[in-house]
Amino acid sequence: MKNFIFQNPTKLVFGKGQIARLPQLIPAGKKIMVTYGGGSVRANGIYDQVCQALEGTDYIEFWGIEPNPTVETLRKAIITGKEQGVDFLLAVGGGSVLDGTKLIASGMLYDGDPWEIVRKGKADAAIPYASVMTLPATGSEMNSGAVISRTETREKFAFYTSYPAFSILDPEATYSLPPHQVACALADIFVHVMEQYLTTPGQSRIMDRWAEGLLMTVIEIAPKIRENQHDYDLMSDFMLTATLALNDFIRMGVTEDWATHMIGHELTALHGLTHGASLAIVLPGTMRVLRDQKKGKILQYGERVWGITAGTEEERVDEAIEKTEQFFRSLGLSTRLSQEGIGDDVIDEVQARFERLGAAFGEARNVDGRKAAEILRSSK
Ligand code: NZQ
Ligand code: ZN
Repeated sequence: MKNFIFQNPTKLVFGKGQIARLPQLIPAGKKIMVTYGGGSVRANGIYDQVCQALEGTDYIEFWGIEPNPTVETLRKAIITGKEQGVDFLLAVGGGSVLDGTKLIASGMLYDGDPWEIVRKGKADAAIPYASVMTLPATGSEMNSGAVISRTETREKFAFYTSYPAFSILDPEATYSLPPHQVACALADIFVHVMEQYLTTPGQSRIMDRWAEGLLMTVIEIAPKIRENQHDYDLMSDFMLTATLALNDFIRMGVTEDWATHMIGHELTALHGLTHGASLAIVLPGTMRVLRDQKKGKILQYGERVWGITAGTEEERVDEAIEKTEQFFRSLGLSTRLSQEGIGDDVIDEVQARFERLGAAFGEARNVDGRKAAEILRSSK
């Protein structure tokens, strides 16, 4: 196991009715800006709960943080926040609203253009912020990462900042999610675990077992959610699995991959594909192209997660990859670029962009432009 420092300061406040706790959770005397997306919270009653809880506090609202939040929108929020003397942010929505809020929080203490923070990959400081999470997928509610897009250049990059002070997770908020968002969320959670797990075996028993438990939970709950999205305990597991998949818990002392995400971000930036949907196409390709390098771990994954024990090593690897692709298909997601109308021009552009960036992703730092193109070509 590698050396590591672990510190995750986010307070999780879980369960139905917990939005009412907002007045106790937000420090007294703050000027609050509540940030929202496009309006799903109005339809499912979350907005009313937040307004009721914040009654009597000093707050303003900022609406319109879009899926794959853009720096163009967030610049406006930062200007408003600075003008109004905001010193606490509350994101109410999915990963996009929260990620956008992370850039607002960081931009509030930065004099230059916030895109510079994104390109640097790290904010030096941020004002405190928190969330009411309505879409379990990104883990953004308990991590310090955020992914921001720039419309004018069709770019999408991650950066890191402080952690949310607290996040409220009410499983009832997920009842209103459209089925496609649920499918993308399940794929995203699954791939978050895989990015931290599917590297080389023998690094940590506890990290492996923890990751495998999360993967098996996603596989178990996926068909049940399709049957009944109003089962409170089921949606509770969905929500908590998303958080635990990307809150630093399963990456202590182990190597990580993240090449699938980096390629997926390019597909979103260039083609507009939803984040989770991009991963369902890329991950099986990553597994196919890097099957030799990842062989030991793919065999372990196949046996422990899918019960694959028969056949030669090569046959078991094939089956594990096939099971993975089948799982994404069972969610109703495409697993090939052609199904989404993505052609060679996009593959060429991803390769060119990775080459310009000097990309070297993955646990072996060998996913460069050429390898990324190979992965995408294997998913045509
Ligand atoms: O904008 P509104 O009206 O709120 O509607 C949203 C949006 O249209 C809707 N929605 C959210 N909660 C809902 C709901 N609809 C009905 N009922 C609810 N309870 O769902 C749509 C998608 O929301 P979005 O926030 O974009 O989805 P998600 O949470 O999947 O976030 C995706 C973004 O997060 C980034 C992705 O790249 C993408 O930009 N990621 C962030 C990560 C992180 N911070 O650690 C890691 C991830 O790998 C990921 O990259
Ligand atoms: Zn993701």
